[in-house]
Amino acid sequence: MSVLTIDAGTTGVTALVVGENGRVLARGYQEFAQHYPESGWVEHVPEEIWQATLAACQSALDATDEAPTCIGITNQRETAVLWNRRRGSSPRRAIVWQDRRTAGICTELRDAGHEPRVTELTGLRLDPYFTATKLTWMKRNDQRAWAGVESGETAVGTVDSYIISRLTGGARHVTDASNASRTLLYDIRAGDWSDELCELFGVPRSALPEVVPSYGTVGESVPEEFLGLRLPIAGIAGDQQAAMFGQNCYIPGSSKCTYGTGSFVLLNTGSEVIAPEHGLLSTVLWQHPDGRLEYALEGSIFVTGAAVQWLRDGLGLIDTAPQSEALAASVPDSGGVVFVPALTGLGAPDWDPYARGAIFGITRGTGRAHLARATLDAIAFEVRDVAEAMARASGTSLPELRVDGGASANDLLCQIQADQLGVSVARPEVQETTALGAAFLAGLGTGVWSSTEELARAWKLDRRFEPGKRDETHYKRWRTAVERSKGWAEL
Ligand code: G3P
Repeated sequence: MSVLTIDAGTTGVTALVVGENGRVLARGYQEFAQHYPESGWVEHVPEEIWQATLAACQSALDATDEAPTCIGITNQRETAVLWNRRRGSSPRRAIVWQDRRTAGICTELRDAGHEPRVTELTGLRLDPYFTATKLTWMKRNDQRAWAGVESGETAVGTVDSYIISRLTGGARHVTDASNASRTLLYDIRAGDWSDELCELFGVPRSALPEVVPSYGTVGESVPEEFLGLRLPIAGIAGDQQAAMFGQNCYIPGSSKCTYGTGSFVLLNTGSEVIAPEHGLLSTVLWQHPDGRLEYALEGSIFVTGAAVQWLRDGLGLIDTAPQSEALAASVPDSGGVVFVPALTGLGAPDWDPYARGAIFGITRGTGRAHLARATLDAIAFEVRDVAEAMARASGTSLPELRVDGGASANDLLCQIQADQLGVSVARPEVQETTALGAAFLAGLGTGVWSSTEELARAWKLDRRFEPGKRDETHYKRWRTAVERSKGWAEL
């Protein structure tokens, strides 16, 4: 038995075929276009996400003789998608989680005193990051597209719902609780959409998907729509929650950091919702088929891997992202340079949609290697800021941090991270943990695996990085630089 897993990320779709032993048997990947129509805006064409899904799945299936028995789905979270319930076509582009256009709407709602109640119900905050204000924006500014939402013709959802609708030929409009918990419309304790929040953000509840548990069969792919395959869809989770599942972070106190476009540190808090203080969020980790919800504290950092991409694409300092390691290692330190990669504002723990990227401490001796080193330092500093906030919010420090995602292959980054955190950093053999987690969920939902204990045996350590000494002056400079980057887009 094997599982086909789809990881519809921010810049591309990964498909894996995962065998019963938890090993990756085949993979496919397809990028799709990013659209930046105005400064701070980020959009995706839903049809391109669907076509990339088909292409990635086809290449994974072509690379193995295994015939998968079920499908797991994981996805970039928060991105707001509209599509026609019958035809699957979209009346407008999706507004991506990174998009900052709704900063003004957030300020308006905050000034009207809504934030404490929104946080109490959702565990989140009023920030453009989350889905609801993106929908408010569409309602106010794209009346043509929104008319279909009001009439019931157009469905509203996140990327998981959109893909499931396409897989099932429009038969199912569902999302799981982990994705629902990122919308600002879902009451995380009640485990249901909140009428009060739907009203506040102007979103008709009838347009939203049915919320289902994170594993267990919820529908079937339709062969005419999906590569001739009729398979049960049996696992759904937002990508960061799926990564927790793939990292075997099943028990309270366990934590991981995924280095992707951004980095997301999650700490399992079990059945308890911890007050989201110190710039953190409380979020649903997953929902079991019996309805039980489990929660996490989350620190969402918007730009980490994307900063390395910017060194490559924006500055041309390197040809490939992995080259950043050798370049950064060619100098003993950043030579006093500090880079704040607030390229799409700041997320946790500082939260400022108006912050922008900044580089401080440049001298005539500064070279490309110092900038590469400062970029790796920045990623590690951002994660340290979040880990320290988590220790304050939960009352316990992290015993270790499990890491995954593209940049976790960078040994120098892992070492700097361990030094900065003062705890060991553990890297598993399989670093595509997000996709693996969705496979585990689907396989658990269909009997490929019988328990999380069995899945825990599939987790294999690749390397552990032990903390060494850290330069606190450099970290102090970082904190000063972060403060100075704030509010820039408002000037
Ligand atoms: O919350 C945003 C997150 O889900 C995006 O993850 O891996 O696509 O950068 P990624």
